[in-house]
Amino acid sequence: MTWKNNRQLDLRERAQKVIPGGMYGHESTKLLPSDFPQFFDRAEGARIWDADGNEYVDFMCAYGPSLLGYGFKPVEEAAASQRARGDTLTGPSDVMIDLAEQFVAQISHADWAMFCKNGTDATSMAMVIARAYRDRKTILCAKGAYHGAAPWCTPRMAGITPGDRANIVYFEYNDADSLADAFKQHEGDVAGVFATPFRHEVFADQYVVDADYAQLARRLCDEADALLIVDEVRAGFRIARDCSWESLGVRPDLSSWGKCIANGYPISALLGSEKARTAASTVYVTGSFWFQAVPMAAALKTLEVVRTTDYLEQIQRSGQRLRDGLDGLAKAHGFGLRQTGPATMPQILFEEDRDFRIGYGWVTECMKRGVIFSPYHNMFLSTGHGDAEIDFSLEVADEAFRAVRARNAELEPHPVLVALLGL
Ligand SMILES: Cc1ncc(COP(=O)(O)O)c(C=O)c1O
Repeated sequence: MTWKNNRQLDLRERAQKVIPGGMYGHESTKLLPSDFPQFFDRAEGARIWDADGNEYVDFMCAYGPSLLGYGFKPVEEAAASQRARGDTLTGPSDVMIDLAEQFVAQISHADWAMFCKNGTDATSMAMVIARAYRDRKTILCAKGAYHGAAPWCTPRMAGITPGDRANIVYFEYNDADSLADAFKQHEGDVAGVFATPFRHEVFADQYVVDADYAQLARRLCDEADALLIVDEVRAGFRIARDCSWESLGVRPDLSSWGKCIANGYPISALLGSEKARTAASTVYVTGSFWFQAVPMAAALKTLEVVRTTDYLEQIQRSGQRLRDGLDGLAKAHGFGLRQTGPATMPQILFEEDRDFRIGYGWVTECMKRGVIFSPYHNMFLSTGHGDAEIDFSLEVADEAFRAVRARNAELEPHPVLVALLGL
């Protein structure tokens, strides 16, 4: 079937009239190549169909939520069974306690759990609890790290006042001196430190954190009696079945989770240690839909799969096959690829591609042949990505490298990107 986008263009035109900017937030295609589909129709496993019926192997996984593949049956059945009993009720279902018990049993540092909807809810709740813990103001965040879209952390400054950021202090990720210095500058007032499991920013190579640095962050928090918060919203369950820093010998006081914890159902979580329990019980945090029972039932089933199957080894294997295959193909076509981050959350950038035009050209060629990669954001593997999907994606990638090589002289940088990054 040949790729088409007639309906997509109509939808975009309609959206432009009734949705500001036609679409907003991280799922807006404004930063993607101009032909990228904005609107989708359905999905199953690792495959997604856009509004024109074009079928793709999707390496975005809804920007993370699909861990076990779209529409994974056991999770859908658990959700359906709960839906038959009720979802949004006057009080939570007992499934909330089951889910909290399961998180506490599974995540080593956790003694309690609170649930909300989006990752931003969980990180914002972590910030408030850290401040309530010793009645302090200063929150330390790594420069450029994404923790959500609330005024205290959104990456765009439109509509944000200096007051919104007054007590947010930035340091360099994985830089011991920078972190120690931030503690020194704000001695006596540091409430908490945010850390992502590894460095996973857009338009940049990803890198893992040094164990020494993670341990220092723990020590500095202990000395200052501040809370250490690991933000697992993006990386959770794609590096480990436990908190990602557990293998570094570091246990946070709080960890925020979201995206894939219910395989696509809307729920996020904040987990905490005993030390933070009193502070957590004093803050006022809530939402009309935070206590829905269906996403909790879906999360409970997802945790069971995480605990009892080899899902992690499967996505590691598929991610590594993709990475090795792409490396070989790129070399054969004379391209240098920078593939960074865990194989389960690959970032793929090109060498000698300062304005990203080669990467954008390549993902466009892949997309038109049925594979969705991102030219600037890390991607996500799911257990839906089996051998057939990886093999198909490598065949497509091969043709796309060839096509980009042939079109090399015509490639242009993306205009929005040129303005945004000042290229
Ligand atoms: C590390 C991290 N924290 C927080 C968030 C915010 O999550 P949400 O978009 O669900 O509010 C994200 C989203 O990408 C994230 O990657």
